[in-house]
Amino acid sequence: MLRKLNILTLDWPLRQERLFARAQPLIVEIGFGNGDFLIHLAQTQPDRNIIGVEISSQSMDKAEAKIDALGVENARPIHARGETALAHFFAPESISEFHINYPDPWFKKKHHRRRFIQRETVDLLTSRLTAAGRLYLATDIREYAEMAGAVFADTPGLSNQFDKPWVNRLEDRFRTKYERKGDREGRRGHFFVYHRNERPVAHPPLIEELEMPHLFLYSPLTAAEIVDRFQASRRKLGDAHVAILHAFADRKRNVAVFEVVVEEPSIEQHTMIMLAPREEAGEYIVRMTSLGHARATLGMHRAVEAVGEWVAGLDEAGMVLERKLRG
Ligand SMILES: C[S@@+](CC[C@H](N)C(=O)[O-])C[C@H]1O[C@@H](n2cnc3c(N)ncnc32)[C@H](O)[C@@H]1O
Repeated sequence: MLRKLNILTLDWPLRQERLFARAQPLIVEIGFGNGDFLIHLAQTQPDRNIIGVEISSQSMDKAEAKIDALGVENARPIHARGETALAHFFAPESISEFHINYPDPWFKKKHHRRRFIQRETVDLLTSRLTAAGRLYLATDIREYAEMAGAVFADTPGLSNQFDKPWVNRLEDRFRTKYERKGDREGRRGHFFVYHRNERPVAHPPLIEELEMPHLFLYSPLTAAEIVDRFQASRRKLGDAHVAILHAFADRKRNVAVFEVVVEEPSIEQHTMIMLAPREEAGEYIVRMTSLGHARATLGMHRAVEAVGEWVAGLDEAGMVLERKLRG
C-alpha cells in the first residue's frame, strides 16, 4: 500500500532510494489529476522513475489507489504544490522530463500570479532539467498558450523542438482525462515541447531546511495572562507573510500555543508555535511544534521570532534573552 507521500514529510532534497526500489532517470508530472498520464508514463518507461506532484488530496487518493491496484512500482505521487517541489525537493540538473498537462488557467487578471507557468517557475524548471532534458506543456486555452510561449521564448536555456511556438497535434500522445473531455467538446490542445540546450543557466539554489528556530525570553506573565492579551495579527516579515490566528493556554502546565500560517513564495505552512516554561522562574522557550509537519524554513524562523518578541513586549519587565534564529 502506498502511504500518502507529502512534501512536508519527505527528505529535502529528494532521495530516490526513499521512494523507489532502484535509482533511474526521473520524470516528473505536475498536476496529474486522475493519474492516468502518470501511470502511462510509468508503464511505458519501466527504466524511468516517475514522480507526480499534485495539490488535490482527492486526486492523490485516486492515483494512489490505481497505482496500488496495478502494482506500478516506478511511479510515486506526492502531495505538494509544484512550486514547492521545484524549490525544495528537486535539485538542479536532476530531472530528465517535466510534463504539465492543462494547468489551471486562472483567467482573472488579478489571479495571473497564481498561474503555474510564469517567469520564476520556468527558470526553476529549466534549472532542474538534466542536459537535453525535456519540458512538455499542454493547454487548451489560447491566451495561456500565448503567455507560456512568450515566457519560453524568453528563456535562453530552453530550445523549442518546433519551428513555431506550439503544435495542435502530437503523434502518439496519450490523452489525459481533461484532454479527452476537451476533444469531445471541441477544444483544441496547444502542445509545447522544449529541451534544455547547452547554454549555461542560473540555478536558483535548492532551499534546504534550516536548524530548528528557538527564542528564549523572560516575562513575569503566566501563559494564561499572555493568551488573554492575544489579538490575531498578520504581518509581512521579509519574504514571508505570517498570520498568527489564535492562541490557547494550558493553565496547568503554563504553556501557550499559537496557531500560525506562514506563507513564503515557495511554501505555505499551517502549524502551531509553542511557548513553554523553562526551569528558571519567568523564563520561556518559544519554538516550533511538529503539528502539520512544519519544516524549519526562514519564514518559520521569522514566525517564532514574531511570537517571542510579542510576548516579551507585553510587559515592561519582559525581554528576549537569546535567539537561535536565522537572520
Ligand atoms: C485542469 S486540471 C488537469 C488535470 C490533468 N493534468 C489532466 O489533464 O487531466 C489541473 C490539475 O493541476 C492541479 N494543480 C493546480 N495547481 C497546482 C500546483 N501549483 N501544483 C500541483 N498541482 C496543481 C489541480 O489540482 C488539478 O488536478
